[in-house]
Amino acid sequence: MNNNNNNNKTYKGISSKKTVILGAHVVSPSVMELLPMEDMPLLDKRDQAIVIEEDVIKDIIPSSEAPFGEEWEVYDVRGAVVIPALTECHTHAIFAGDRAAEFHARIQGETYHDQQKKGGINATVSATRDATDEALLSSLKRWLEVFLGQGATAVEVKSGYGLSHDQEIRLLRIINRAKAEGHGVEVLPTYLGAHAVPRDAKSREDYIEEMIIKTLPMVKHENLAEFVDVFVASVAYSVEEADIIYNAAHKLGFKLKAHLWELEHDNSRELLEKYPFVSVDHLEFAQKEDLEVAFAHGTVPVLLPLTAWHLGYNIRRTYEVIKELKGYFAISTDFNPGTSFSPSLWQAFTVAHIEFGLPIEELFFASTVYAAKALRLNDIGAIVPGSKADLVVLNVPSLDWLGYLHGINPVDMVFKNGSPVQ
Ligand code: NIG
Ligand code: FE
Repeated sequence: MNNNNNNNKTYKGISSKKTVILGAHVVSPSVMELLPMEDMPLLDKRDQAIVIEEDVIKDIIPSSEAPFGEEWEVYDVRGAVVIPALTECHTHAIFAGDRAAEFHARIQGETYHDQQKKGGINATVSATRDATDEALLSSLKRWLEVFLGQGATAVEVKSGYGLSHDQEIRLLRIINRAKAEGHGVEVLPTYLGAHAVPRDAKSREDYIEEMIIKTLPMVKHENLAEFVDVFVASVAYSVEEADIIYNAAHKLGFKLKAHLWELEHDNSRELLEKYPFVSVDHLEFAQKEDLEVAFAHGTVPVLLPLTAWHLGYNIRRTYEVIKELKGYFAISTDFNPGTSFSPSLWQAFTVAHIEFGLPIEELFFASTVYAAKALRLNDIGAIVPGSKADLVVLNVPSLDWLGYLHGINPVDMVFKNGSPVQ
C-alpha cells in the first residue's frame, strides 16, 4: 500500500477496530431498500477500498485513497470480486436421519404426496425425536459451518421435525444454543410446529390447540423464535387451520412466514389479506392475484428453486408474474432432508439459471438484499456505508461466472462483522 499518498482520508477519533479491504472489485446491490427488482441498481466498481470500523462499513473509496497506518488491519484482495454475504432465509437445518430411499423412489416415479402418507416429514420426525440433544446440536452446527463456507452469514433455521410441545421446544432450544455458541453465522430461529400433523396426535384439533395454548406462549415467553411459519397444503394444514395458528401467533407479536402454494393452489390469499407476513415461500402454484396482495403488503416472495427442481415443478411462471407486477423476490435453498438436500445457494443459482432461466444478476440480488428483507434484516445484504461488514471474497472474475462455472464453491473468504471467519 502507498503510505505517501496525500489523498488518504483520515478517520478521526476512532479508537475502535479499524479494517480496510484493499483492491476490491465491489459488486453489490447499491441500496438497502425494498425496491422493485428492475429498479435495483448494481454497484460494480474495481479497485476499491472497503473501510470498516468495528463491524460496520464506513466508506467505499478508491484503493489509492485508502487510510493507512499501524492501527489499520489491511486485507489486500488483489482485484478479487467482493460481494455482500449471502442470507439463507429459509432452511429446515435441524433434523436427524435421512430420506435417501424416498428421494431415489421419487426419481423412479413415486410422488411426494403419496410419500407423506407413510414416510415423509413424519419419518424425519421419528428420527429426530430419537436423536440426542448433542447429536442434533452437532449436526446443526456442521450444517451452519457449511452455509458459512458457501458465503451465508445469516441463516434462518426452522423447527418442525419435533411436532409435539416438548419436542418442538427442545428443537428451538437447541437452535438457540447453536445461535449462542455459533461463530460467524447469525442464526434466526423460526417455530414451525405446523409442519405436518404428527402421527401420534390424538387429533388434528388437539395438536393445534396444544400449539396455541401451550407452545406458542412458551416460545414467546422464552424468546425461542422470532418467526412463526405454517406449511399450508393438502398434506399438512388447511387455510382455516393456518388462520387459527397465525391469529394466535400474530397476537403474541411474532413475525409471520408461510409455506404457500408449494404443491397446489388454494385460497391462502385470505391469510395474506388478514396478517402482515414478512415472507411467503415456495409459490410454485401462486396466482397473479396472490402476488398482488403480497406486494401490496410489502411481503417478500421467496422462491426455492432446488425444491421445485426436486419435485419436478417449475418456478418460471411464478417468476414471470413477479416481473409482470414489477415486484421482487428472494431465493433460498429450503435445505431439508425431504425436498432439497443441498445447503448451497450456488447450487440454487445454477438450477434457477439453467433450469428455469432466471437471470444471474436477479438471483444475486435475490440471495443478498432481498433475502435479508425476507428476514426483516436491514443492515446486511449490500455493500453500502452503514451496513454490517459481512462480506464474501469470490474466486471468480465477475458475476457472469456465477451459474456458469458450477459444481464448485466460488467462495474464497468470508468476513463477518468485519473479521474473517472462513
Ligand atoms: O419446504 N414444505 C414443507 N417443508 C419442506 C419439506 C420438508 C420435508 O419434506 O421434510 C419444504 O419443502
Ligand atoms: Fe420449506
